[in-house]
Amino acid sequence: MWLSTHVALVFALAVDNATGHGISDCEGGPLASNAVCNTTLDPITRATSLVELFTVPELINNTVNTSPEVPRLGLPAYQWWSEALHGVASSPGVDFSTSGEFGYATSFLQPILMGAAFDNELIKSVGGIVGMEGRAFNNHGRVGLDFWTPNINPFKDPRWGRGQETPGEDPYHLAQYVYSLVVGLQGGLDPEPYYQVVSTCKHFAGYDLEDWDGTVRYGFNAVITSQDLVESYFPRSRVVIEMRKLALLLLPFHLLIMQVLV
Ligand SMILES: *[C@@H]1O[C@H](CO)[C@@H](O)[C@H](O)[C@H]1NC(C)=O
Ligand SMILES: *[C@@H]1O[C@H](CO)[C@@H](O)[C@H](O)[C@H]1NC(C)=O
Repeated sequence: MWLSTHVALVFALAVDNATGHGISDCEGGPLASNAVCNTTLDPITRATSLVELFTVPELINNTVNTSPEVPRLGLPAYQWWSEALHGVASSPGVDFSTSGEFGYATSFLQPILMGAAFDNELIKSVGGIVGMEGRAFNNHGRVGLDFWTPNINPFKDPRWGRGQETPGEDPYHLAQYVYSLVVGLQGGLDPEPYYQVVSTCKHFAGYDLEDWDGTVRYGFNAVITSQDLVESYFPRSRVVIEMRKLALLLLPFHLLIMQVLV
């Protein structure tokens, strides 16, 4: 619980910039003298300083995608759930206007088609445009700065129903696509002075069942052989994790049972 809030805040601070949408009023608000408002400090120190002020009920409130405001600390509410699979898209965190500017965003092809180009530089360019539009929406208070993109699950079974969200079934190709898209979205491998947006890769492993024949994603046990984990699921998860400070990783909803082969 502490960890998820803490990690999320570290990334929120990493994308925050001095003049944009800060997480709190650092001029005269309750946190003005807290280390979180000191932009010369590193994001981990700043996030730690803030999270230490949270009560346990407040931490619990922050374990879901909707973070309520904490008036005591001058913290506004935040919605972590914004989508940008192939362009900034409708989701709880995205507020399209009904007409005029910000009424739409560029919509690229579904990932299954973009993946078919087998062109990593192209995917990086697409990610760069989607991330820039996300940042522009954020500049006008219409979206958060973290996007639950890309879908890193391998397309293993068409009954899943979300195969079009992925670039395909091949673990190596998937890893290349994910890496390229994330680097594009975030504005580089280690962008300075701040990230364009934050990419949240979903989901760690074993998520390719949505709702099938009475079994739903929230309540099934995925029994996966160690061979399948190593060959199908871990290559793209490893790429994401090895980026270290680049991406957030959304855990699967279900229980993951790793079956060790003897
Ligand atoms: C910010 O942190 C630096 C490094 O610890 C410190 O020297 C500086 O005084 C701090 N600034 C404020 C306004 O507290
Ligand atoms: C938790 O969030 C709810 C709104 O979702 C709010 O009513 C409640 O006061 C919050 N609790 C704490 C301790 O902040």
